Amino acid sequence: MPQWNPESYLAFADHRSRPYAELLQRVPPTVTPHRIADLGCGPGHLSALLRNRWADATILGVDSSTEMIHRAESDNADPRIRYALADLTAWTPGESYEMIISNATFQWVPNDLAVIARLSEYVTPGGCFAISVPNNFSAPSHQLLHEISARPPYAEHTTGLHNARGRDPQSLLAQFADAGWEVDAWTTVYQQILPGEDPVLRWISGTGARPILQALPEPLRTEFTTEYAAALRDAYPQRPYGTVLPFERTFCVALRPQAVAG
Ligand SMILES: C[S@@+](CC[C@H](N)C(=O)[O-])C[C@H]1O[C@@H](n2cnc3c(N)ncnc32)[C@H](O)[C@@H]1O
Repeated sequence: MPQWNPESYLAFADHRSRPYAELLQRVPPTVTPHRIADLGCGPGHLSALLRNRWADATILGVDSSTEMIHRAESDNADPRIRYALADLTAWTPGESYEMIISNATFQWVPNDLAVIARLSEYVTPGGCFAISVPNNFSAPSHQLLHEISARPPYAEHTTGLHNARGRDPQSLLAQFADAGWEVDAWTTVYQQILPGEDPVLRWISGTGARPILQALPEPLRTEFTTEYAAALRDAYPQRPYGTVLPFERTFCVALRPQAVAG
């Protein structure tokens, strides 16, 4: 499985954290969790946002990357926050949660809707499942990535790789609403202004381009990076104020109905 690099991921921490904060804002005050699970918690820098809002909750961060879990554990010395190394496709929670949250992770999980449906069984009645995922896979950054990597001499190393894919708000809305949950789903397109040289390449190298970059041996990786960087510079021109990377994300806050007294 391609590895994650916490350092490279955190290089744009402000832009990457904003959707998490905006997702949390839409969790209604009726949700007062004692136990929270953060699925695909990454380097753990967002656990503080959960702790700020719910001072007494216990928090479990789950992630399949050893590097991310190590970073999360070393940066968070709170005895009520635990981190677990697990793949969500196979992970079975040992308990239920009043709140499950996940940001920028389910795009990497095969059969995401089935996994979400299975894990939603672990949300308590009256509890919340809050999800955000990118929905920018038709953007030039991804189109160029797949177009260039599908050409020789790169194709023989990149064909068949598992790549991330997005979700529109309708599919998440329908999934939860069909099961009787109350749903708030929406889309936001962020106009991200990135500083410095080749910022779109640096952005995507920490996330969406990782599987392809890691699959290419040298010197092909350097050749690919040079070609891809030039195409990205054309698609996202540098302005005096920075480079604009529009980025669409899908959000869904779903509330499980309260149990009906029998
Ligand atoms: C883009 S990062 C998001 C990190 C954090 N949630 C945030 O908002 O900054 C995606 C994370 O999902 C994790 N991930 C990807 N596939 C996963 C899976 N199948 N099970 C558990 N974690 C997974 C990665 O290891 C990575 O840490």
